[in-house]
Amino acid sequence: MIERLRWKTDSLDILDQRLLPQKIYYLNAKNPAQTAKAIKDMATRGAPLIGCVAAYGYALALKASRPKTAEQAKQILSSAAKTLKDSRPTAVALAYAVDRLHALALGFLSTQKGPALKPETLDALSRLIDAEAGKIHDEDVDANERLSEYGSRLLKRGATVMTICNAGALATAGRGTAVGVISRAHEKGLIRQVYSLETRPYLQGARLTMFELLRGKIPSTLLTDNMAAHIMKTCKIDAVIAGADRIASNGDTANKIGTYMLAVLARYHKVPFYIAAPIPTIDMKLPDGGGIPIEERGQDEVCVLAGRRIAPCGARARHPAFDVTPAGLITAIITENGVIKPVNRRNVRRVVEKEA
Ligand code: MRU
Repeated sequence: MIERLRWKTDSLDILDQRLLPQKIYYLNAKNPAQTAKAIKDMATRGAPLIGCVAAYGYALALKASRPKTAEQAKQILSSAAKTLKDSRPTAVALAYAVDRLHALALGFLSTQKGPALKPETLDALSRLIDAEAGKIHDEDVDANERLSEYGSRLLKRGATVMTICNAGALATAGRGTAVGVISRAHEKGLIRQVYSLETRPYLQGARLTMFELLRGKIPSTLLTDNMAAHIMKTCKIDAVIAGADRIASNGDTANKIGTYMLAVLARYHKVPFYIAAPIPTIDMKLPDGGGIPIEERGQDEVCVLAGRRIAPCGARARHPAFDVTPAGLITAIITENGVIKPVNRRNVRRVVEKEA
């Protein structure tokens, strides 16, 4: 799979996914603000990937400006953390990565004696942050592998699977979550067919998931979102597998807009509905999905398609970027620590607290 990011120690190359599949082009971010803009503007996307990108964006803060005192360093890092966390609200992986690095940096600074920060101390802090950002990246690669294997065990030979949005390599540091499960199952010879929903308005399913499935030589067919019910009724679908941006402690799951619709359809047609997501996607602070912040994006992203206005001037549109699927509609949540089934508060806690 093509590289989604390239860490260069004093800057970060970010694959501009808005240009895929036509063009492979990397933006270069030199500071947290440029990194946050790439996330906000959807150049890079997908919950685990924006967590990794934000981690490297945070690491850039001390390269872009060299503070002379511990107090200045704290201010620069706190401002970087805020800028990055404000870029997109729904995926908790982003806040998880930034908070983890910020706690580490503040812990380091609190051990420093005196207000002045020697250049070698600053370099040591910078190396510490870089290494932790790399660790977050590597952990996602590893989590993807393990959850993909667990998920593949839920599928039988000849499986036809439906997915939405892009929860593949382009959304993570590794092989992906929902698409990771599919690709692992394909390696085992289990996949007959994958239906990818195009995912209006950003078309992640058409542009990105189809790109990945074709590159992986996985038999696949593109559907528009409004074809899902008809295909579930007329073709044998063995499973729906989607990713997640944030899972509350009771299992309610936020994912790309349209996921809830698929879960309702799957229940009606008696098709198992799976969520595949790494543990940092689970927000144990939230009692249920009601507390998940849903990003509302601009209406132009709905009214304008590929640079061309498709709705009449003056038409109003909504663009909630995510929806929340209630735990009761989810057959199982596939994580790197194992499969949560049935999906309830007790089982979520058990798997989260389990040693991987
Ligand atoms: O708006 P996006 O493209 O960032 O939304 C991505 C999704 O909803 C994915 O399904 C989710 O982040 C899981 S990615 C492994």
